Amino acid sequence: MPVVTLEDFARSFGTTAEDVREKCADRIAQSNFSYTLIEGAERDALILSILKRIEEDRQVIGAPERQKVWDKGWEENLNDFIGSGYDLGTLVPRFIRRGQPVRFNADYIQPANPAFELDYFAVFRQWLFKTYFSSISHVYEFGCGTGFNLVALAQLYPEKRLFGLDFVTSSAELVNRIAEHHRFNLSGHLFDMITPDRSFALEKGSAVLTIGSVEQLASKFEAFVEYLQEQPVSLCVHVEPTIELYDENNLVDYLAIRFQGKRGYTRNLLPHLKELEKAGKVEILKVKRLYFGSLYMEGYNCMVWRAVRQA
Ligand SMILES: C[S@@+](CC[C@H](N)C(=O)[O-])C[C@H]1O[C@@H](n2cnc3c(N)ncnc32)[C@H](O)[C@@H]1O
Repeated sequence: MPVVTLEDFARSFGTTAEDVREKCADRIAQSNFSYTLIEGAERDALILSILKRIEEDRQVIGAPERQKVWDKGWEENLNDFIGSGYDLGTLVPRFIRRGQPVRFNADYIQPANPAFELDYFAVFRQWLFKTYFSSISHVYEFGCGTGFNLVALAQLYPEKRLFGLDFVTSSAELVNRIAEHHRFNLSGHLFDMITPDRSFALEKGSAVLTIGSVEQLASKFEAFVEYLQEQPVSLCVHVEPTIELYDENNLVDYLAIRFQGKRGYTRNLLPHLKELEKAGKVEILKVKRLYFGSLYMEGYNCMVWRAVRQA
């Protein structure tokens, strides 16, 4: 049975195997990354089920009712968190599914381990945090949901000051409960990325993180990017689905383009950043498609940039 190797992770993240070993060997050793490639009749059946799902799906990203859906979802996690006696394991969002086939190298694979998607993401997240945040003292995650990414960051770097922002109150409350019970240097705040509160001042030299939250703005990200340019932050790191990175001549990619397009996940963030770069306003430090994702789309592409400050 094939297994995701250090070299595979390195290709996916856009770095060397040695770098992955140094930053993530401990995390990789905790999981089983073996899988089988889905082929032949099984692949046909899977593709058919995806096409039907795309046809039937009615979710509209950014629709007014979505705010209530998020609030209710994170309230369920909050109740689970409290009910479990503050178990951090209850913070994994339900949209990271267990046991499903996943996308890998523009193909579908069936992992042996039901938590493959979560575990692969956790390796990438650790690599990302060690690569970009090791010498940053303040990190803000916008659209932080349950705060489970910030928990991973707090466990790696307990001394950093961390902020979780979201537009629903159950998220801010959950993040504050986590901080209180686990004594993390972390706080939760309300913040709407579509109409950013420009008086919410970010610390000089801090970093901004988004993981699957710009995707939820239905392409209305310009005010947020302007806000980030105004703030004295040193780095903006996005992990987001990026429709522009697929190859429309590849069937597996094409299905993701159809799925993301139909729901209306944000598009154009990358072209927008490239235009700002051309105008000399930002510097793009990294763009990397991971060639990894869930059954329906690749949600974990990496974009890192910073504003160019006038001398
Ligand atoms: C897919 S979840 C990702 C949550 C978290 N970053 C994670 O990786 O688990 C999207 C998050 O974006 C938040 N969100 C959606 N629209 C937002 C907006 N306009 N302003 C701030 N947060 C928003 C949702 O409440 C939700 O927590």
